[in-house]
Amino acid sequence: MSKLTVRDIPVEGKRVFVRVDFNVPLSPEGEVLDDTKIRVTIPTIRYLLEKGSKIILASHLGRPKGRVVKELCMAPVAERLSQLLEREVLRSEQVIGAEVERAVQALKPGDILMLENLRFEAGEEKNDPGLAAALARLADVYVNDAFATAHRAHASTFGIAEYLPAVAGLLMEKEIAYLSKSRDNSPSPLVVILGGKKVADKIGVIRHFLNKADSLLIGGAMANTFLKAQGYNMGGSFYEDDKLDVASAIIEEAKKSKAGFYLPLDVVITEELRANSPSKTVKVGNIPEGWSAVDIGPETVKVFQKMLLGAKMILWNGPLGAYEFPPFHEGTEQIARTIAATEAESIVGGGDIAAALETLSLADGITYISSGGGAALEFWGGKELPGLIALKDRSSVGNMVR
Ligand code: 3PG
Repeated sequence: MSKLTVRDIPVEGKRVFVRVDFNVPLSPEGEVLDDTKIRVTIPTIRYLLEKGSKIILASHLGRPKGRVVKELCMAPVAERLSQLLEREVLRSEQVIGAEVERAVQALKPGDILMLENLRFEAGEEKNDPGLAAALARLADVYVNDAFATAHRAHASTFGIAEYLPAVAGLLMEKEIAYLSKSRDNSPSPLVVILGGKKVADKIGVIRHFLNKADSLLIGGAMANTFLKAQGYNMGGSFYEDDKLDVASAIIEEAKKSKAGFYLPLDVVITEELRANSPSKTVKVGNIPEGWSAVDIGPETVKVFQKMLLGAKMILWNGPLGAYEFPPFHEGTEQIARTIAATEAESIVGGGDIAAALETLSLADGITYISSGGGAALEFWGGKELPGLIALKDRSSVGNMVR
C-alpha cells in the first residue's frame, strides 16, 4: 500500500486519535448483536497499547443526523471492547469540548478513551472544519482504521487529516492490500451480486461493473426499483420512486454493456413483513396489490447459481431478501451456500452478510470477508475513497513529524 501506516511513525507515549468503525447492530435493549467490527480493530489497538500510546477511539453509530439519540450512545460498544481487551475502556459522554479535553489530559500511556458517537455532532457528516480541528486538538497523531467508513468525507475521516500526521491502521492496511490485489488481477468470469435496499447507494458501482464484470446479479429490495422501471406492477413492494429514471437508464446501458444484467424472474411475496408470515412465490409480473416482494424466488436462485458455478471470481454485497425475517432469508442463504462451495475466489463485503455467513458457519468457504460494504464496493469499483486520500502517501515520509 502506498499509504503510511501506524507502524511507520513514532507513537510511543503519544496521544493517538484512532477513527474506528464501531457501527454495529444493537438489539432494542441496547446489546451488541454482532461484534465483528469491534474485533477487527483489536490488532491496531493492541499495537498502540504495546507502544504505550494514549488511545482516543472515535466512531459513529447509526445515523442520528446531528442529534443526541440515547439509543445510539457508545456505552454498550465500549463495554464490549473492554470485554474483548480484558481491560478498562474509559468513556467520554461528549464528542468534543472541555470535558473531553480534561479526560484526554488525564490519560496515561496505555489508557483507552472512547468518545461519544461522532454523528451526534452535526458537523461530522458535513466535514465541518471547526469540528475537524477540535477533534485534532485532542491528539498528536491520527490513525484511520475505519475502512468501512472510508467512502465518507466526514470531519473524522477526512477533515481531521488536515491538522495531524495521518496514517492508516492495521485493518485499513489489510483491507486495502487484499482488495487492491484482487481488483487489479481479477480473473474472468467475474460475477458481481448486489442486494440491499437502495439503488441510490449503488448507482456508480453498478455502472462500473457493467463494463468490467461478466454478470451482474441484482436482488434485494433494490431489484424492485429496476423491476418497477421495467413496467412491472410491484404491488406494495418497497421501491425508490425517485430512482426509476436512473434505473431505466441503467437497464438501457446494460443492453449495450459487456455484462449480463440479471434481475429476479420470480419473488417470494407476503402481506406483512415479519418472521413466518404467510407467503407465496410468484413470477415478477404477478404481484397482487397489498403484497410485497421480500426475497428472490427459486427460479431466480437457480439462474444465479448457474452464473456462480461458472465464475472464477465473485463479489457480493447486500442481502438478497429480508433475511432477518425467516423464511425470507432463504434466497440469501442458498446463494451463500453456493458461493462457499465453489472454487471461485470470493469477496464478500458488509456487516449484514458477514454476520449471516458466521451464523450459517459458511465464513470458511469465502476467500475474503471485508469489514466494509459500501466502501469495499466503491474501492473495487475503482473510486478513490476520501478516507484514504486523506492519509499520508509513503512518498511524503519526509514531511512526517518524527
Ligand atoms: C457501514 O456500516 O456501511 C458504515 O459504518 C458506514 O455507515 P453509513 O452508511 O451510515 O455512512
